[in-house]
Amino acid sequence: MKQIGFFITGTDTGVGKTWATLCLMKMLQEQGLKVAAMKPVATGAVFYEGRWMNEDALALQRAASIALSYDAVNPYLFEPPVSPHIAAELAGRPIELTPIVRIFQELQERTDCVLVEGVGGWKAPLNPREKVADLAEALGLPVILVVGLRLGCLNHALLTHEAIKSTSVDFAGWIANHVAREFPYAAENIRTLDASLGFPPLAVLPYQERLRQLSAGVSTGFEAERILRVLVPSVTFRNF
Ligand SMILES: Nc1ncnc2c1ncn2[C@@H]1O[C@H](COP(=O)(O)OP(=O)(O)OP(=O)(O)O)[C@@H](O)[C@H]1O
Ligand SMILES: [Mg+2]
Repeated sequence: MKQIGFFITGTDTGVGKTWATLCLMKMLQEQGLKVAAMKPVATGAVFYEGRWMNEDALALQRAASIALSYDAVNPYLFEPPVSPHIAAELAGRPIELTPIVRIFQELQERTDCVLVEGVGGWKAPLNPREKVADLAEALGLPVILVVGLRLGCLNHALLTHEAIKSTSVDFAGWIANHVAREFPYAAENIRTLDASLGFPPLAVLPYQERLRQLSAGVSTGFEAERILRVLVPSVTFRNF
């Protein structure tokens, strides 16, 4: 079977990249595919089972079809929840793309599909020279853009789409995620993006009160994975 993979970026930080990645993993697993996901660079950590870990990475590790070491899912982890290039400099550990690509290729050999969640948005700096966009290009993966439906998302989505199109990677599509309980004129916003980006969303992820409540607490990753099992059958992916 042909290897597939996607790079998941977003209109911003906190727009639902991890949630959308978990939903995609589940959907692909339901099609019988062996799926893994990486969060190659993460900032912000929780102390769990004797070591620092990132909650996104933990959730992705747990949702994978195969057993993966934490470091394979998240090779670069920095404790302070700040921009990666700053965290890396503080830690004296520069972020390099080559080891990430190597680990990604190893995961590809063991699975049918590897999803890679970016960090921040498309132009978030990873080091003084390279940005998230360069990582997606180094991996050579088509990109899925998660649009967090809130005021300002049209501007962010259109700018990000333009920037993706100026690189060598393909734009695979976009996912609309209801991050807020209320977003007036959501349908109109989605229609605007449909017309501007050229096709409708791959999926519209509904607002999940339970998921939102968890953001205030700890270990959202674990809970999110549990929620996913119950809630995601309600999401339909288009032409995937
Ligand atoms: N559909 C939704 N309904 C309710 N809450 C949501 C939804 N999607 C995401 N959230 C909440 O919004 C927050 C951000 O979501 P998520 O962690 O998936 O975003 P992200 O883009 O991966 O963020 P980061 O930049 O930190 O990686 C989380 O606390 C999550 O629980
Ligand atoms: Mg995330």
